[in-house]
Amino acid sequence: MNYRHGYHAGNFADVVKHVALVAILQHLKKKDTAFAVIDSHAGRGTYDLTGEEAAKTGEARNGVARLMDLQGELPPALQAYLDLVRESGPTRYPGSPLLAARLLRPQDRLTAIEKHPEEFAALKDVLALYGNAVAEQDDGYARSLKLLPPPARRGLVVMDPPFEIADEFERLAAAVVAGSRKFATGIFLIWYPVKSQSAADAFIGEVLGGGVQKALTVDAQISAPEGKLDRAGLLVINPPYGFDETMYAAAEILTPILRADIAVKWRAGAE
Ligand SMILES: C[S@@+](CC[C@H](N)C(=O)[O-])C[C@H]1O[C@@H](n2cnc3c(N)ncnc32)[C@H](O)[C@@H]1O
Repeated sequence: MNYRHGYHAGNFADVVKHVALVAILQHLKKKDTAFAVIDSHAGRGTYDLTGEEAAKTGEARNGVARLMDLQGELPPALQAYLDLVRESGPTRYPGSPLLAARLLRPQDRLTAIEKHPEEFAALKDVLALYGNAVAEQDDGYARSLKLLPPPARRGLVVMDPPFEIADEFERLAAAVVAGSRKFATGIFLIWYPVKSQSAADAFIGEVLGGGVQKALTVDAQISAPEGKLDRAGLLVINPPYGFDETMYAAAEILTPILRADIAVKWRAGAE
């Protein structure tokens, strides 16, 4: 377990993933009934953009830093994401569990799972401020499956593994298929790197072949130096009504700013 998200926090892929996360949470909040968020690979919750890890890659400079002066009327999910980032202060970037914790209402619950001891310790401190959020140190796949379906019977599962083991796509596909069977109405937000189109397609095929009825992908590509991640995808299962339109609108604004190609595409059960 060598992966540290601090090297990548706030990069182009984080921006797209976290705007999607905020869009889904905003949708879930349209109804008063409680919902659950399970974040299987949560990370440390907050990242120091001036720290050694961030400085070494400079990835946030080509990501969230480019959005800091963004003004004017924005799609609500992008605006809410930017508000949360700005509230974190100029040198910090909020990770998925902190963004979720900040958006939850008293009736909602967050379980954030992180395996790495140091990342977990930091996460626990970050979430200690939020009475309805809990950090657990465990294996994200096994633990999140045990938590499904959540008592609220509505909610979101975020799966964002580090892709440092060779069979991560296979493990992720198996967990997503098993998870979506246990929680068929749940929304799943899954992140993956696109280093090979065929590997990404095989992963999506595996998930869709497992019985998922409704899914879309968001693909983001930038130009990056050789050897650096330049393309990443999100697979969203059971995207809420209007999520596609939200992401089209966000993509239109983010494309020139991030200098990225962002494609939103239905894979199954288009609205
Ligand atoms: C890509 S980062 C998560 C970033 C976070 N989701 C965000 O958007 O802010 C992946 C995290 O998974 C953790 N991790 C690695 N193996 C794990 C496992 N088996 N179960 C849970 N977490 C794991 C890593 O320590 C790392 O913090």
